[in-house]
Amino acid sequence: MCGIIGYSGPLDAGKILLDGLSGLEYRGYDSAGIGLCMEDTSICIAKKVGKVKNLREYCEANVHGTAHSGIGHTRWATHGGVTDANAHPHRAGRVTLIHNGIIENYHELTEQFHLEGQLVSQTDSEVAARVLDALYDGDPLKAIQKLQELIVGSYGFCILFDDQPGSVYALRKVSPLVASYTHAGAIIASDLTALIPYSNQYFVVPEDKIVRLTPYKVHVYNMDETFSKVYPEIMTVNWNMDAAMKNGYPHFMMKEIHEQPEAMKNTILPRISKGLPDFSDDKIPDEIFKDCNQIHIVACGTAMHTGMVARALMEPILRIPVTVTIASEFRYEQPLIDEHTLVLVISQSGETIDTLAALRLAHEYGSKTLAIVNVKGSTIARESDYVLYTHAGPEIAVASTKAYSVQLAALYMIGCRMALVRGKFTEKQAMDFLSDLLDVIPAMETMIAQEQMIKGVVSHIIQSLDAFFIGRGLDYAFSLEGALKLKEISYIHAEAYAAGELKHGTIALISDQVPVIAIATQEHVFSKTISNIREVKARGAFVILLTKEGSVVDDNLADIRIRIPDVDDRFTVFPIAVVLQLIAYYASLGKNLDVDQPRNLAKSVTVE
Ligand code: F6R
Repeated sequence: MCGIIGYSGPLDAGKILLDGLSGLEYRGYDSAGIGLCMEDTSICIAKKVGKVKNLREYCEANVHGTAHSGIGHTRWATHGGVTDANAHPHRAGRVTLIHNGIIENYHELTEQFHLEGQLVSQTDSEVAARVLDALYDGDPLKAIQKLQELIVGSYGFCILFDDQPGSVYALRKVSPLVASYTHAGAIIASDLTALIPYSNQYFVVPEDKIVRLTPYKVHVYNMDETFSKVYPEIMTVNWNMDAAMKNGYPHFMMKEIHEQPEAMKNTILPRISKGLPDFSDDKIPDEIFKDCNQIHIVACGTAMHTGMVARALMEPILRIPVTVTIASEFRYEQPLIDEHTLVLVISQSGETIDTLAALRLAHEYGSKTLAIVNVKGSTIARESDYVLYTHAGPEIAVASTKAYSVQLAALYMIGCRMALVRGKFTEKQAMDFLSDLLDVIPAMETMIAQEQMIKGVVSHIIQSLDAFFIGRGLDYAFSLEGALKLKEISYIHAEAYAAGELKHGTIALISDQVPVIAIATQEHVFSKTISNIREVKARGAFVILLTKEGSVVDDNLADIRIRIPDVDDRFTVFPIAVVLQLIAYYASLGKNLDVDQPRNLAKSVTVE
């Protein structure tokens, strides 16, 4: 949420910043801007509402001269509307600043520093810039230290001072920043997509340290009296630039749907030893699985939906309570968790602020935490007791696809290992379970190969304003994700409903204008779901039915039937997920919408 970048080095800073912002754009695309320290040491600011493309065109026409250092920002609006004035960078006296996060006490700071009347934007970020300028007496480190003592909230800042040409300063709390000294110079950015063209080595900027980029080095300072130097651990990224490119696909989302079988293999295979799940390389001890008497899963959005599937899968096997809570609710509740609770925290980005706060709360209650995270070295990964990395590679489309599948794969493996160590599975049962999990990979490939068929199906629903996804048990858990995906990229209002619950009120909304996507893959409730489908069909709904190949249903039950391969009931989510993702994708495409960057959204939600 908001992408920021800073650069200092021998090359054309404008180009490096604009290219970096294109890579970071998925973090927010309401406006974009750059601030350049020109060769004559003047500061040049260019900012524009809209995508980075607009800014690039504007810069080509209006920015003349060369710069070798600067900062850039792509915005997801929080405080203040989408206007050029609210776009970053913000300039105040000798300070030029970009910000990702929220300054919670900006009102108090406005009063304390008598800023009323000086502000030219409605942003909290400009307040930070003006306060910093007021604190600045020629020593950037001291001024930043004082700023950090005053502000409350989350922030990733990159800062230029007029009288410090060639230097870019940065500071973070909660909001992510990674940095590297590369062959192109020193670069700092919200995430690796902006660094990876220049280096596969980086470090995660520690919280509450000051970073200074110069053309020759990246310096990190403690905020102590002498500003002593810090040397953060250098990490190596295990994917390359190719992984962050479309590589011939029309959209990142389509590419990422296609990448799922490979991502599944990468996540599952290294964790199988002698046919059994094995987390010894992840350093996850069996004690955390043995010593708990309940599991609590916390996450947001798609990641939370994987928790819903895990709950429906694990509870019947483990026979202990498995609770799923939306992280933004959990963090302000008094959850019934303690030192005997295993809290599973799920996050693709590892930076979602509500999920991070939930993790911290779980620690306050003494619970053991295990995070399922895709981004190596992210805050959630670093702060949880244990981490199980998914190996999906970078997910660039705002709508999550491959992360959903690999999070599920990780949860299925955790469920299997827990069942084994708690005596709920024999070794044979655990081996069979893992072998069923591996069988879903060809099943997913089968459904990906049917994308043109699914495209045809979607043409029947794209004119609809509303749609329902229904199912029972695990099928209901899958429906939640189907509805979210359709909503977020096609803007069709969609609701997921437990099929048996419809007739308690909601069926009043069913008509011939409302398509119903019905999922019926669970044998023990199959006939019940079929009855519920008849009920919506009788009220005129256009029904798209998703079942297993081998299921027997009347020809007139549904308008369209999509068959998935006959995998075990507990594993149908994987091929079903592909179908639901493709339905959403083609609905968005059919409506000529921005598939990868849907309106109002952004990837990696680092604000509450
Ligand atoms: C929807 C989507 C979001 C994320 C949610 C959590 O397609 O991507 O609902 O799943 O914002 O993000 P992470 O997993 O990064 O914590």
